[in-house]
Parts: sequence; C-alpha cells; structure tokens
Amino acid sequence: MADFLKKGTVSDMQIITGIREMKGFSDSARKEGKTIAFVPTMGYLHDGHMSLLKEGRKYDCLVMSIFVNPIQFGSDEDYNTYPRDMEMDLKIAADSGVDIVFNPKAGEIFPEGFKTHVAVSELSSRLCGISRPLHFQGVATVVAKLFNIVKPDVAIFGQKDFQQFIIIKQMVKDLNIDIEIVGIPVVREKDGLAMSSRNKYLTPEERIAGTCIYRGIMKGMDVFDIGERDTDIILREVRNVIENEPSAKVDYVKICDITTLEGIKVIKNSALLAAAVWIGRTRLIDNCVLGRGLM
Ligand code: PAF
Repeated sequence: MADFLKKGTVSDMQIITGIREMKGFSDSARKEGKTIAFVPTMGYLHDGHMSLLKEGRKYDCLVMSIFVNPIQFGSDEDYNTYPRDMEMDLKIAADSGVDIVFNPKAGEIFPEGFKTHVAVSELSSRLCGISRPLHFQGVATVVAKLFNIVKPDVAIFGQKDFQQFIIIKQMVKDLNIDIEIVGIPVVREKDGLAMSSRNKYLTPEERIAGTCIYRGIMKGMDVFDIGERDTDIILREVRNVIENEPSAKVDYVKICDITTLEGIKVIKNSALLAAAVWIGRTRLIDNCVLGRGLM
C-alpha cells in the first residue's frame, strides 16, 4: 500500500478503522450540530458509487464505509474473490470529497460469539431472496450495525439494488431508526449495462453480452409505454430479448409491486420490473420502474 495511505489520511480525508474512534467522531460532529451523510459500500468503487457520494456531499459531513460484508455472501458465493482495490477506492473517495472512510476489520464487526441478526421478513424472501436466502439478512444486519456506529442523519443507497433499498427503508421504519434513507437512480455504462463492481468479472465477450439485460428492460418499457398492462405479456417480451443472448441464463425476470415486491398480474399505475441474469459465471441484476421512466 502506498505510504500516504498508511498514515491514515489522504489530503483532508481521514481513514478510521476502529468502531470506538468512528463513534467518537460522529458524536463530536453531532454535538457541533453537523449533519452526517453516510454511504455504505463494499469498495471497488465506480461511477454508481460516485453518484451516491455526490448526493452525500450536500451534507456537512460525509462518511463512506468500505467493508466487504462476509455474512451477506452464501457459502458458494464470491466473498473471497470479490474485487478489492483500496488504493483506487481511497483516491475516488478523496476526489469525491469524502470526509471519513470507515474501513473496519471483519473481526471487529463480527467478533467470536456474535449472535444477533436483523431479518426483514417477506421482502427478503422475494426476487433475489429466492436464490440468495440469507443475503438480505446479512445486509440488514451489517447496515443496522453500521448505522449504530456511524450514527448518520441520512444514508444513501443505489437503486440498482432496489430490493436492498426497500428492505433498508422497511428496517428503519420498523426499528424506529431516525435515519432518512435516500435512493439514487441506477448509473449505466454508455451501452446501458448497469454499473456494478461485479462487471469486472466479465470477459470482453460477456461484457458485450451483458447488455442484453438492459435491452430486455428497455423492451419491457417500450411494451408498457404503448399501453400493455398484462405482466405475462410484458415479461415474455423481456425474456425473449435476454434469452436471445446465448451466454445469458435468466435467474428471474419479474414485475412486482414497488413497495411489497409481490408479483402482480396487471399493472395499474406503476410497477417494478426487475431481473437477475447469469452471464457466464457472473450474476448481474438490473431494474426499472414502469410508469416512472428508466432509473
Ligand atoms: O450495496 C452494498 O454494497 C452492500 O450490500 C452494503 C449496503 C454496503 C452492505 O454491505
């Protein structure tokens, strides 16, 4: 690691690794009447994260966490190989005006004997929860912990992970957590592929193939825009586009209620069109809200 990163600061940005130190920082900022915005991340930052940081910079103090959360990965998933590049992340964070990078050790967040989990029922078992049964419990648990440590006024999440965004909103409501949850629209590559740290896994051919998800979603929007409201018909059109790509294997393509994430047959006003698709060995997700424009 470069020397300037070891010292714990990059220009004015501070890097905090300890929970006590992080809580201490937030307590003093709050005492001074400052508002704290928080962007939780697993690192390997891209333009999608930068759009969250841009929103966070509107507040007095901007905290970003980098923590690859072991408990949101299944045992057959990519925790060990999840892309990591601390040097690049710290540079992006500093350039985006982050005040504090909170980068705790897994052993301090989940010490021996850790027993408590946060489970947001129903919402966590739909869509991605079917093929990733403990994923959202892992997300809700770590986010609840990070909220208690960082003590922000506002927390900012990307809506590419729409289900995660809805689950966190439900969690703060149910647990009376006084943090405003802000959602930021999906950021896309020029050819439409939703930005994701996992895009790094794609070979050049898969990278091109991956655009089938966006093309499928666009097809869904077009069919909706010309007046179709029967979700079976819209979904068939979306699947046709995605499945026309030989390396794509659909995990799910669904149209559901925006707040309950329950599947619906006929769209009244708006609905979430969400997809998870394997491109080779990489599982990618994407979505849009029908009736509100592409996010
Ligand atoms: O969206 C992510 O990167 C993660 O799920 C989060 C919210 C940082 C929790 O680990």
